[in-house]
Amino acid sequence: MFNLKEKLIHALPVQVVDTLLFCSECAAEFNVNIYLVGGVVRDLLLGRDILDIDITVEGDAVEFSEFLIQKDSGIKLSRVQNDLKTSKLLFKNGIEIDFASTRTESYPVKGHLPVVDSIGVRIDEDVRRRDFTVNALVLSLNQSNYGELLDFVDGVSDLEKRVLRVLHEGSFVDDPSRIIRGLKFSVRLGFNLEEKTFALQEDYLSKLSNFDISYSRVKSELMQTFSLNVPDAFDKFIEQRLYRLIINNFDFYINSDIIKNLVDKYKPQSVWLVYAGCFLVLGENRFDLNKREKKILFEVKKFLVNNPPYDNFSVYKFYEDALTESILIYYIITKSQSALHYLDDLRNVRLSVSGEDLIAAGVKPSLEFKKILDTLLEEKLSGSLLTREDELKFLKFQIKQLKK
Ligand code: CTP
Repeated sequence: MFNLKEKLIHALPVQVVDTLLFCSECAAEFNVNIYLVGGVVRDLLLGRDILDIDITVEGDAVEFSEFLIQKDSGIKLSRVQNDLKTSKLLFKNGIEIDFASTRTESYPVKGHLPVVDSIGVRIDEDVRRRDFTVNALVLSLNQSNYGELLDFVDGVSDLEKRVLRVLHEGSFVDDPSRIIRGLKFSVRLGFNLEEKTFALQEDYLSKLSNFDISYSRVKSELMQTFSLNVPDAFDKFIEQRLYRLIINNFDFYINSDIIKNLVDKYKPQSVWLVYAGCFLVLGENRFDLNKREKKILFEVKKFLVNNPPYDNFSVYKFYEDALTESILIYYIITKSQSALHYLDDLRNVRLSVSGEDLIAAGVKPSLEFKKILDTLLEEKLSGSLLTREDELKFLKFQIKQLKK
């Protein structure tokens, strides 16, 4: 097998390399094996940036963390989870590392969170619970073979072929969020689903009503995927009918490049929802949405049942106070130019006169206030009131008219 010690030294900042060597020495003293597993090994082999480091301990990661702290009192325990035997340590040099115990899992309720069967199993058993072979590669941090790549699942060959292959036939039934993970990795890494894996995905989607799904995991993966703002992710999502995980049918044509251009131009806070909103508004919602996300879908639904606005004032009133995402989703679905006209030209139009000016002009606070200010706004949106003085003049004129 390859030794990736040199690669590791070049790919990681010196502080991380030193911290890994320290952990390795301590593991030898504590008599436990430790490894890097998953995304970090995959990305190291692909030459991609490594953002976070997870160490898998072939034993009890919490006990090992305590041993590290004994060896160096400058290390802080940032988090510990005793049921899963995981921890997070903050080293003196500012590096944070997650430690997990090797484990085997099973899915008593298919499609939902797994339960842990045993902790501290052999590393080759641990990798078998994972999603794709390229995410099940292991790199030893042990003194005897530091940097050696351990491939129990033919992950290197799949990495070379640039394919995503599940480790067993029941992988999607166990955890359907892996279907969206497959989409995420295929877009992010430029990989394809291996033929049999694709067939298993098709099979899952065609028998969907027989299966149970944890929508919170699906949502989390979908958020990560669409947040990449890559049109190809949306196209694949539609072409491969992955939307069936969330809604029964989708037969609109949506040009995903348009979505990307809108996101780039208007920079909405929830990029993922601009993509997902296009189908989420069509079906009964199965995701646990937060308040803001609910508001967005509610607004789009409200726009869709009303007639599109025509003149500046009605466009302004139609979209007034709506979130950018809602306006974009409505535009993507309907192509109503009013949506972009509002965002480009009208959204920031504000009256400089207020209720206080009305009171100063002798109008008592009443329902008339709104009427007067709306008429003023309408006039301003038509382009005739340029300055505050223009507005005040028009205001006085209006008050006179009302008194007649
Ligand atoms: N994993 C899995 N099934 C899931 C989620 C995660 O098998 N539904 C496993 C994979 O082996 C994965 C590891 O847990 O590599 C860590 O998960 P995560 O951090 O989500 O993925 P990474 O591969 O590290 O990818 P990223 O680069 O997005 O962090």
